[in-house]
Amino acid sequence: MSTVSRETSEATRWLESWDIWRCPACLGPLGASESAAECAGCHARYRIEDGILVIKDHTDDNNGVAQQFYDSPLWPKFRFWEKFTWFCNGGERRARNAVLRHLPERPRLDLLDVAIGDGVYLDWLPKDWRIAGVDISRSQLDACRRRAEGRDIRLAQCEAETLPLADRQFDAVLSIGAFNYFNNPEAALREMVRVARPGAPIVVSDEMPNLTDRMIGHKLGFPAFDRWIVSRLMNLGDAFTEMVERYRDLDVLTLAKKVIPDAEFLPVWRGVGYVLVGHAPAE
Ligand SMILES: C[S@@+](CC[C@H](N)C(=O)[O-])C[C@H]1O[C@@H](n2cnc3c(N)ncnc32)[C@H](O)[C@@H]1O
Ligand SMILES: [Zn+2]
Repeated sequence: MSTVSRETSEATRWLESWDIWRCPACLGPLGASESAAECAGCHARYRIEDGILVIKDHTDDNNGVAQQFYDSPLWPKFRFWEKFTWFCNGGERRARNAVLRHLPERPRLDLLDVAIGDGVYLDWLPKDWRIAGVDISRSQLDACRRRAEGRDIRLAQCEAETLPLADRQFDAVLSIGAFNYFNNPEAALREMVRVARPGAPIVVSDEMPNLTDRMIGHKLGFPAFDRWIVSRLMNLGDAFTEMVERYRDLDVLTLAKKVIPDAEFLPVWRGVGYVLVGHAPAE
């Protein structure tokens, strides 16, 4: 078999084994063409590389800051502090479960994970769930693919604000650790609702936007000291730290209720984070 036809058949298998992927530009169906996906409507082509559908590999503004951070050596250094937060909240499994427990306990569930990262909690989700994961960071998606070996999972590199997915496909949608700084969180929520089946739970979690209020510098009136701690000591970097400060007044619940009327905002991890829980409206 020639390389091209082998790649074509891999791409065909990838696309057809779970027919949820659509062209983000026109929502036309995607068919395999060599090692790419091609839209039957507008003929746009998207690469499929190492099992990952590449819709957008370069992002701007906040999404660009996040993409650069998660593809950089700063992320593994910062992760120590994420693990430390879990440690202070009874361990990672227990802390994560404060969010994951809002997902339905159902066999053979179809789950969308928006900003899946390296999928560190996949092992705690039932093995018979089918998972679609999207993220803007290629290195995170590569790590996720390695971790998820043997699972029924499909991954795509794209922005939360423009999902390359058909309407009403998922029994639940999950997003942990990214929502506050999406370029457009409201647009991302609208996309989550669009691709969810009516009534499906939408579970979104992140840190409290004004978390740095708890830090010593803010308490003493020297917020610059906290910026130094977060950027340099905790290794979040200057661009990300500046973004955190800029969104400290984000009103997550008011924003969410515009899209998900029954949304509830629940503090978790001793108030360090929140989980937003609601259901995709029927129409
Ligand atoms: C803290 S990690 C969380 C990963 C995983 N959900 C977890 O809880 O471990 C944040 C992830 O969000 C991704 N991300 C940030 N903005 C995004 C956007 N607009 N669309 C898709 N992914 C995004 C980053 O690339 C990163 O992998
Ligand atoms: Zn198209």
